[in-house]
Amino acid sequence: MTPLLDAAAIWKSFGDHAVLQGVDVSVTRGECLVVLGPSGSGKSTLLRCLNLLEPIASGSIVFEGREIAGLPRKHAAALRRRMGMVFQNFELFPHLSTTDNVAFGPVRVKKRPLKEARELAHELLCKVHLPDKLAAFPDELSGGQQQRVAIARALAMEPALMLYDEPTSALDPETVGDVLNVMQELSDEGMTSIVVTHELGFARRAADSVMFMDAGKVAHRASVDAFFTDAAPERVVRFLRRMHA
Ligand SMILES: Nc1ncnc2c1ncn2[C@@H]1O[C@H](COP(=O)(O)OP(=O)(O)OP(=O)(O)O)[C@@H](O)[C@H]1O
Ligand SMILES: [Mg+2]
Repeated sequence: MTPLLDAAAIWKSFGDHAVLQGVDVSVTRGECLVVLGPSGSGKSTLLRCLNLLEPIASGSIVFEGREIAGLPRKHAAALRRRMGMVFQNFELFPHLSTTDNVAFGPVRVKKRPLKEARELAHELLCKVHLPDKLAAFPDELSGGQQQRVAIARALAMEPALMLYDEPTSALDPETVGDVLNVMQELSDEGMTSIVVTHELGFARRAADSVMFMDAGKVAHRASVDAFFTDAAPERVVRFLRRMHA
């Protein structure tokens, strides 16, 4: 099957620090790829390069059949809308209700009528299991609820691909599960996703494949079953062992 996103030989440096050193990454439609790896291995930088928030030094990024690396700024913005990005810190607008946070993109960027955008927002807030929070403001919600609003906000732009960068690492443990469940449900419904996370349980349950990054390189990539059962490079085994400890 043709990949939805196929990036090859990506190099990226900050100053003389080569943060990504020839990274290959691809996802097919409907696939959930989990990216693991130690701090500083380049996971966030990789996601930011894939959605063109960071320019790459060399390499190719084919998305929906089109080379997108090096697109001019104007086209990059349009392209970025095809990818929903969810970060550790959700950064909702504090002065807007959850509904208007979600409706904001469709109204401002897609020029949808407000009424229609709010209806869409209601649908999406129900989808992330917040039907009773349509009128709430962000500071009235738990971190996990706010993160689910952030997911709904990303979905409102009708992305072809969701990129998650440690979406649960800033949350209280008791709210993590609800966020992971929503991500898994979306994936089960066919949403393509790349998920940087340390949640190995999520990886086992929801991922189709798992990639391990180390010092700017892909140290290992395998189907989820093979990743957790077959022999892996020593570096990966040590990392997984530490995470289970
Ligand atoms: N804007 C920047 N300027 C300079 N160096 C940067 C910048 N962004 C990232 N780096 C460096 O690039 C390397 C990779 O960072 P990155 O944030 O991609 O790692 P990560 O795998 O996401 O780590 P973590 O698990 O801690 O989030 C780190 O050494 C980091 O200090
Ligand atoms: Mg990171």
